[in-house]
Amino acid sequence: MRSNHFLKGLRTRSFGHSALFLKKTESTNDVALQLARDGAPEGTLVNAESQTKGRGRMGRSWATTPGKSLAFSILLWPRLRNEELPEITLAAAVAVARTLEGHRLKPRIKWPNDILLDGKKVCGILTETGPKKDKMVPVVLGVGINLNQAGADFPKEIRGTATSFYRSSGRKVDRRIFLQKLLFQLEETYHWVVERRFPKVLGEWRKRSSTLGHQVKVVQPHRSFYGQAVDIDEKGALLVRNDIGQVERVTSGDVEALKIHFPPGNGKAK
Ligand code: BTN
Repeated sequence: MRSNHFLKGLRTRSFGHSALFLKKTESTNDVALQLARDGAPEGTLVNAESQTKGRGRMGRSWATTPGKSLAFSILLWPRLRNEELPEITLAAAVAVARTLEGHRLKPRIKWPNDILLDGKKVCGILTETGPKKDKMVPVVLGVGINLNQAGADFPKEIRGTATSFYRSSGRKVDRRIFLQKLLFQLEETYHWVVERRFPKVLGEWRKRSSTLGHQVKVVQPHRSFYGQAVDIDEKGALLVRNDIGQVERVTSGDVEALKIHFPPGNGKAK
């Protein structure tokens, strides 16, 4: 994709107006963080066909299929407090879901920001911050989304848990147009956050949640526990009622929705 070709048909105010399309890089998040050091403007897009060190949440890696998926990062300079930054990630999950819905799909959001189709992951989001510049903290919003891959395109280890737009719908999608639509949605939901309209994000997130109301296993680096996911709070933390009725606020880690019942006992996972 060339930048001038990409701008045609783009309906955003700033997202993607400055753009870098790379064939191969280690991680688009790193490139965007470097551009932040150089003072690149808000909305700068870094897109790559392939990443040699694509990063996921919780130290995981992220695989991109050249020509069939999208891996990109957007540089943001939000006027927000540190504790408000997770709001951007939840807003981005809503934006991805809305874009897929625009293509007649029915995505769900698994807390905090995995997008699922048919219960399998189609998109992951990784938000990172860089060092302050002129008193502002840059935020890089990294999005990896599976579009036109067939099952065989996925590494064996994730074939059972990952999906793509194509795998789920039987339809191929134009990646350039999809990216333009996604940037439009990402910009809109990002503005809800910076304009202090996060309750709107929460409402949209809750409607699409695959997590709320379910028995879940919460897996964190130092512990795991079972409970019932009851809500997300006004900061985007997951509220999980454990087996002794206490509601725990979960701000990091992963959740797995369980098909089994909440186990009796102390609620601690093995
Ligand atoms: C996750 O689900 O764990 C998050 C995956 C995020 C992957 C994207 S791809 C573009 C950007 N660059 C990276 O290295 N990671 C993000």
